[in-house]
Parts: sequence; C-alpha cells; structure tokens
Amino acid sequence: MTVATLSVVPRVLAVANQKGGVAKTTSVASLGAALTELGRRVLLVDLDPQACLTFSLGLDPEAVELSVHDVLLGRLSAGLVVLPTADGSDLLPATIELAGCEAVLLSRTGREHALRLALAEIVDDYDFVLIDCPPSLGVLTINGLTAADEVVIPLQCETLSHRGVGQLLDTVHDVRRLTNPRLQVRGVLPTLFDGRTAHSRAVLADVAARYQVKVLEPPVARSVRFAEAPGTGRSILTTAGRSKGAQAYREHARAIAGITSGRSPNGRARLDDLALAADDLPDLDLAGIEAGPTADDIDAGPLANERVPREPVGAARATRREPAALTRAVR
Ligand SMILES: Nc1ncnc2c1ncn2[C@@H]1O[C@H](COP(=O)(O)OP(=O)(O)OP(=O)(O)O)[C@@H](O)[C@H]1O
Ligand SMILES: [Mg+2]
Repeated sequence: MTVATLSVVPRVLAVANQKGGVAKTTSVASLGAALTELGRRVLLVDLDPQACLTFSLGLDPEAVELSVHDVLLGRLSAGLVVLPTADGSDLLPATIELAGCEAVLLSRTGREHALRLALAEIVDDYDFVLIDCPPSLGVLTINGLTAADEVVIPLQCETLSHRGVGQLLDTVHDVRRLTNPRLQVRGVLPTLFDGRTAHSRAVLADVAARYQVKVLEPPVARSVRFAEAPGTGRSILTTAGRSKGAQAYREHARAIAGITSGRSPNGRARLDDLALAADDLPDLDLAGIEAGPTADDIDAGPLANERVPREPVGAARATRREPAALTRAVR
C-alpha cells in the first residue's frame, strides 16, 4: 500500500449546517480525535451556546471559567482560554454565555472577524483547527466561516435535508464576497446514513447534482455507538474505536491531513460497499435499541494513541466532569 503525506499547513475547517442534529458536533469531535491519532496538533472550537462539544469532550460547561465568549468579545486572548481534552485535542470551550455574545457582537464594527483575529495568535501552534458551528446562520456561524479555509457540511440523508444546503451555500457565497475570499466548500459529509435504503443514496445524488458540491466519502453510517460516546467524555474513536463510524471518520481525517493510500477505490464503489455493509447490520436507530454489536462494532477499548494531554495553553483550569454525569467541578 502506497502512503504519501502531503505538506500540511495550519488549516481551519468550519463544520456548519443551520439544520439541527445533523452531526456537526459529532463530526468535529470525531475528526479531531482522528487527526490527533495521526499525530496532528488539533484545536477544536466550540462556537455553539449549547456547548455540546465542550460537554462531549468531558468538560462541564457550567464550570468552565473562561470561554470562547470572552475571546470573541476581546476580553481575553485565545491562548488563555484553551484547555486540553482527554482525546488529545485542545479545546476552546463554550458556555451558555455565548448566547448573549451574538447580541453584543452585532453592535460592533468588524464583528464577523472576531474569531479569525482571535485565532490568529495561536493558529500556528496547530496543524488543524476545527470549528463546531451552531445550528443557525447568525453572526457566530458567520464568524466560523470567516475564520475558516474550508467548510464541511454534514448532511443527514433524508427528504428535504437538501433545502438548508442551498441557503448555507448562499451564505458561503456572501462570506466569500464580503469577509473571506479564501473560503472553500470542502463538501457535504453524509451522516446518519442508512445504507439499507435507496432513499439515502438518492438524496445524496440529488444534493450533489443540484448544488454542484462534492459528496465526501465514505458516508458515516447511523449507529447507536455515536449516542453512547458523549456521556463518557470521549469521542467514538475511543469508546468504539473499531466501529464502522470510527473508521469512517478516520478515513475523512486522513483525507483532510492529505494522506493518500492505495486502498481507496473510486467513490461510487465505496458508497455501494457501505450500503452492503449496512444491510448486514441489525436495526439501529437513534432511539437507541441495539440488537447486538457486529464484529466490527465491538469496542476495542481505548486506542494505543492515548496521548497525555498537553498542559493547558492558557491559565484556565481544566473543569473535567464525571463521565455520564454532569457535575459541577470542584475548584
Ligand atoms: N452516525 C450517527 N449515528 C447515530 N447517531 C448519531 C450519528 N452521528 C451523530 N449522532 C447522534 O445524533 C445526535 C445529534 O448529533 P450532533 O449533536 O453531533 O448534531 P449537531 O448537528 O451538532 O446538532 P446541533 O445542531 O444541535 O448542534 C447526537 O445524539 C449524536 O450522538
Ligand atoms: Mg452541535
């Protein structure tokens, strides 16, 4: 197998879709962990007042003292706010305070550039920065897109899911014109993919043709494993490292890192492969009734790459929560 590594410069990817629940946060956490596995230095940015990324990575948003909100308002430099996570990525955490930040930013000149400017001073410490955007096209998402080199659009392959894509692409077009000419659309990332139905594939084909966007392969199949991970404060790469979902995100991370391997056939074949594999799966759905793991889904336990988290870059103290229970950290 031929493996080639292309030169990697610091790259900022926004993960955005104004539609809720399409796996933006899951994709950021999983890609971050997968890039870390590859030895890349990764910063994750939680740009959602729901702070789900912060929670999923084992921190208690209610106990986080300094957050991305302080950074966007120019009160603190980003380096002071960044925290390490157990998965190995660093995190610019969010708290519910971020909800109020939108209103304050709106009255400020250059509000779209707040995140880009804040990241400028630390971006060279990382190979990749992944931004988890909120489910809206408001000023926070615009900040994410303005700070980014590329945008990845997670898409749940169901009827009408394409409708938001057009609106998001219009926003990308505006951002490119007004605040960030270098912004590229990396592509649509199919998530919660049910390969057992022709419908999911039809939706994907429709989106690709309608909007002329690349569909990133492989699709991430629907699996209850994803719902289990956030409660442990780790990504699926740790909680079910050998599952198909974890492997799919690893493939995407390799592509993002510019690592090519000889084992990638053309995209169509891979989509069909996944559909066949999903045919073998028991009925899995978000309601969470698992009919039993397939061989591939057996938890491999923590992966060998368990990096010791770096010391916090800034002065903020870690506020780790107990797994599965959101408890206020003892300070
Ligand atoms: N491939 C998958 N299979 C099954 N469940 C998944 C998958 N990906 C994500 N999920 C689950 O779907 C739910 C929504 O995912 P997530 O929070 O990542 O979406 P989101 O787009 O960030 O949502 P929001 O718009 O609210 O920020 C979560 O419970 C997550 O665990
Ligand atoms: Mg989210």
